Amino acid sequence: MGQKASPLSIGIAPMQPLRVGIAGLGTVGAAVLKLLDRQAAALALRYGRKIVVTGVSAKESRKERGLDVSRFAWFDDPAELAAADIDLFVELIGGAAGTALTAVERALSTGKSVVTANKALLARHGMRLAELAETKGVALGFEASVAGGIPIIKTLREALPGNSLSRVYGILNGTCNYILSRMEIEHLSFAECLAEAQRLGYAEADPSFDIGGEDTAHKLAILTSLAFGTRIDPDAIAIEGIKDISLADIEAASELGYRIKLLGVAERTSAGIEQRVHPTMVPRSSAIAQVMGVTNAVTIDADAVHELTLSGPGAGGLATASSVVADIVDIAKGARLPPFGLPVAALAPLEQAPLQMHEGGYYIRLSVYDRPGAAAAIAMRMAERSISLESIMQRRRPGERKPAAVPVVLITHATYEKLIREALAAVMADGFVAEPPQLIRIERE
Ligand code: HSE
Repeated sequence: MGQKASPLSIGIAPMQPLRVGIAGLGTVGAAVLKLLDRQAAALALRYGRKIVVTGVSAKESRKERGLDVSRFAWFDDPAELAAADIDLFVELIGGAAGTALTAVERALSTGKSVVTANKALLARHGMRLAELAETKGVALGFEASVAGGIPIIKTLREALPGNSLSRVYGILNGTCNYILSRMEIEHLSFAECLAEAQRLGYAEADPSFDIGGEDTAHKLAILTSLAFGTRIDPDAIAIEGIKDISLADIEAASELGYRIKLLGVAERTSAGIEQRVHPTMVPRSSAIAQVMGVTNAVTIDADAVHELTLSGPGAGGLATASSVVADIVDIAKGARLPPFGLPVAALAPLEQAPLQMHEGGYYIRLSVYDRPGAAAAIAMRMAERSISLESIMQRRRPGERKPAAVPVVLITHATYEKLIREALAAVMADGFVAEPPQLIRIERE
């Protein structure tokens, strides 16, 4: 397929223009084209190199996108665009395999730099792709892959060289945070809030990736590597989603001074690197608890800066496109840093800390038969394992007739996951509880 000159060019510079091919013209791809158009004058002033989109690829050429794409050379096959006469291939197709992987591999192996927003691709193949980029002396940019418009990749890779990091954690999925926020504020069901998130375009094509925690896990895998200089291991992440969080949990959390957030947490412990994604109770007064709706936030615990929190839009076309454009501009300026901060050969293998060794406080909601000895038996099972209770709450709503089982909520002081699991198995065996317990980890500030 032939190429024609594009009218989308930025700057008047002595350097050769950077020729860009963009594959995937969905919400983000279209927004990247809009931003490059909109920022043309400012980019020209600041960076002095033309950025020229020379070709595009998408499933449908005639789809209405609010843009004239007839001015770009059209490629039905993204891999063909990747191999064309371009300097930089922008992959906004999505998915860990298939077309996206083939096209990115083709681009890198033919000596093109790549910018991608594809967290699943990086979590699965990031090490191999980074190695390929290093071998070919090209760049691999993925700022848009984590937390949409927040420059968290650049911060971890470039801004904290004087620090040793101990923990990085955050709200990395706008859909889940939107759902949990709306459930709390408007007392709506999980299903109603999910439908609204999909309508607003926050959710992935398959929303089970959002609510099941996989999307957060993909992003966390990338952050862990950058934070701790380790190889990515997406299978070393413990994952729980939000589908079992009920209004009862959200309201109990609120009464006890907490809020529930889906967090991705990577932490250096004496047992190795702990990586976990799960609904988490955070103190209502904490910075992370204030983050509502589709907003994302990432907190970095580091020895020199102590604590750094970045928050901003985690999803949406323009916000994500802002990060894509930042990578494009870095590449136009000649940046060729190792994608994960260190050459791939220098990244350490990830030593995984077992979740059973996780140490922290826990929220437990039990459905308890209201009879003598029930509370004492539960307390005893905790005490046998030296688990100390911070609070205990049993409540029947006013006017309610005596139900067969009542909700009992416990908050524990810090203990080990292994001990909590053992205590709850013993509580179940005692026969005082009607349903499997709800267990939510508490994250310290
Ligand atoms: N579905 C994702 C989210 C979009 O809700 O955060 C950005 O990765």
